[in-house]
Amino acid sequence: MTILVTGGAGYIGSHAVQRLLNDGHRVVVLDNLDRGHREAVDALRGMEGVGADQLSFEAGDIADGGLVGALMRDHGVDTVMHFAALAYVGESVHEPLRYHRVNTAGAISLLEAADGAGVSRFIFSSTCATYGEPGADEIPIHEGVVQRPINPYGASKLAVERVLADYSAKQRADGKAFSYAALRYFNVAGSDPTGLIGEDHDPETHLIPVILQAALGKRDGVTIFGTDYATEDGTCVRDYIHVCDLVDAHVAVMNALEPGDARLYNLGIGRGYSVREIIDAAKRVTRKEFPVREGERRAGDPPVLYAEAGKIGRELGWKAKYTDIDEIIATAWRWFEKHPDGYAS
Ligand code: UFG
Repeated sequence: MTILVTGGAGYIGSHAVQRLLNDGHRVVVLDNLDRGHREAVDALRGMEGVGADQLSFEAGDIADGGLVGALMRDHGVDTVMHFAALAYVGESVHEPLRYHRVNTAGAISLLEAADGAGVSRFIFSSTCATYGEPGADEIPIHEGVVQRPINPYGASKLAVERVLADYSAKQRADGKAFSYAALRYFNVAGSDPTGLIGEDHDPETHLIPVILQAALGKRDGVTIFGTDYATEDGTCVRDYIHVCDLVDAHVAVMNALEPGDARLYNLGIGRGYSVREIIDAAKRVTRKEFPVREGERRAGDPPVLYAEAGKIGRELGWKAKYTDIDEIIATAWRWFEKHPDGYAS
């Protein structure tokens, strides 16, 4: 297959590109390099066994309909994996228009280009942030839980899910073959176990990379955002899914998509770890000590989020291979040790 991977120079997108190349697909990466890393694409191009014409890179924007349509036609794209997006909850609260422009309007432009080029398979990176703050009786979160996002980031992703539902209904009504999946990610973590590519965000705000930077001495420690939540140890609980398992789920979905399909899946491992458990695991894995401070709650953090992740297993046979948090953190640590300054190392 020929797959257009938007955001293919980013953390999750680059792991998807790696897997698709290893599976023998042709991949066209479209990334505006606002937050992605050209070095990630270059590293993947150099992987053993990757053919010279297997990977194309275009530095451009998903909102550039002319460019995207031409890319789709010129390369004979049959599937889109759409990762390109802004993904900081806090930033989205301060810049809601930007989030809706890049995430929502950007996805609409991309779909219009796909429509024009006759590309009829679309896999969308959605998020558990579309669920907002589910009630205690809605945890673990299954796909039927009502989506009530509490920040513009979650709202911008939910808006795209709705656009996809409307567009696919119309295509179905017209007897056209469009199919899509919206995959609602929980907390994506870890990296390529070979250490070729990894997580490099600026600024970095995610718990595991922040802890690993502290372990490397790149930060003066870690602050726990809130220790008075109604959880076992008082800190927030999240569902950490390894990025390679996440990508594996995309491939399972891609291979299963039939004309007319509209598939919705949560992607998590189905169990939660508290912030304190993550810090303890990182200390075991890295064998480093670093200061841990107890701080105030961070605005907008739901206390407990983990998935009821059985649907994709039942329907497609997908199962997370990484269920041990130490193993997940160990893959991230391999990258951070080798690349203490990310791709700039
Ligand atoms: N945390 C700390 N200290 C830090 C960083 C994080 O205590 O320095 C805590 C957070 O408060 C939270 C947990 O660690 O309880 C995880 O935080 P992350 O920032 O790593 O991840 P989030 O759960 O906030 O965000 C993730 C995704 C988002 C998605 C969101 C849905 O990264 O894209 O889940 O809630 F929108």
